[in-house]
Amino acid sequence: MPYLARPNIRYHISYLSALLEYKEEGLDAGPSAFMLQDPLVFTRYTADICAGADISFSKDAAHPPYVMWWWVEGSKYLGRISLRLSLTPYLTSYGGHVGYDVRKSERERGMASAMLAAVLPLARSMGYENLLLVCEKQNAVSRRVIEKNSGMFLDSSYDEEGKEHLRFQINLMPA
Ligand SMILES: CC(C)(COP(=O)(O)OP(=O)(O)OC[C@H]1O[C@@H](n2cnc3c(N)ncnc32)[C@H](O)[C@@H]1OP(=O)(O)O)[C@@H](O)C(=O)NCCC(=O)NCCS
Repeated sequence: MPYLARPNIRYHISYLSALLEYKEEGLDAGPSAFMLQDPLVFTRYTADICAGADISFSKDAAHPPYVMWWWVEGSKYLGRISLRLSLTPYLTSYGGHVGYDVRKSERERGMASAMLAAVLPLARSMGYENLLLVCEKQNAVSRRVIEKNSGMFLDSSYDEEGKEHLRFQINLMPA
């Protein structure tokens, strides 16, 4: 059974191969597999991700602190999900609290739905009563992931290019 884990050297080999999959589809996943092949560099990289939750680490107001988990099974990396600890005006319109992706070879197996479901009680335990989730209108799969996790449609926002983004709220408080 896959589960959430903090980024760690244990997933090094698998993460490198996932980076190639991300690259193949043009998805920005940060430093390249080439840059991260050295275990020491990779260890530093995972430490930096874990430090992302530290407010002093996040000096840029446009990029608030976040907690990132990797969705893994054994030593295999499957995907990642991050919880942004605060919202900027940009994130309020276009990003929301949560970002996620699943490596291409693991899609359509319920990974994103399960990964989001696993993060919700953690967010609740961190004090959040509800979360804002946003996806592009064209991203029907992401919309489905949000709706499967009880996302309630709020409204649409439109970016500078006129692209429509759908905003949802997930209530974390028991009824
Ligand atoms: C969006 C994304 C995370 C979904 O990951 P996933 O693990 O394949 O999603 P799931 O398997 O949980 O599928 C969720 C739902 O979408 C459906 N679905 C998944 N892929 C589909 C596809 N290609 N076509 C039609 N439906 C699809 C699934 O059947 C499921 O619905 P169901 O439970 O009613 O059957 C993944 O496609 C991805 O990483 N995309 C690129 C990054 C991205 O868009 N991130 C989200 C930004 S808001």
